[in-house]
Amino acid sequence: MSDTSIEPPVGASVWERDLFAHLTEHAQVEQDILEEYAAAARATDSRALAYLVNLLIEDEQRHHRLFAELARSLKSTSELSAEDPPVPWMDFQRADHATAVELTRRLLTREEDDARELKRLRKELRDVEHTTLWGLLVDLMQRDTDKHIAILRFADQHIKSPQG
Ligand SMILES: [Fe+2]
Ligand SMILES: [Fe+2]
Repeated sequence: MSDTSIEPPVGASVWERDLFAHLTEHAQVEQDILEEYAAAARATDSRALAYLVNLLIEDEQRHHRLFAELARSLKSTSELSAEDPPVPWMDFQRADHATAVELTRRLLTREEDDARELKRLRKELRDVEHTTLWGLLVDLMQRDTDKHIAILRFADQHIKSPQG
């Protein structure tokens, strides 16, 4: 993991400097958690515990990357850099409107179908929910599906009305 030691923005406002400090501090916290999880996964003899900790590691790696991208984007914005920030601007208007609307609606329908399917599967696993990790995994996928729906609703809403 790198990127936690990005130089603060030059010529930034107080708000930008404070936000930058929060983002980089948080990226560092994520990095520390990550190292602790990795050590825990190595140290245990339980495959189940190591498996769960590895799921957490995957998420924390993503969090670490997102915080670093946010910090680099803030830096490039406040320094009025000509380069594209890692987190893109909301340029939905560049996409073909009809195609983009059709795409987000279609994906939303699929995620909603997926949510129903996972709910049914979760019920089927009730008998083994205290003897296997399976129910937990389906539970986590249900949460992921909620997240996917939130992402698509955001896109749909902003493609429809870029100002709103
Ligand atoms: Fe995190
Ligand atoms: Fe999904």
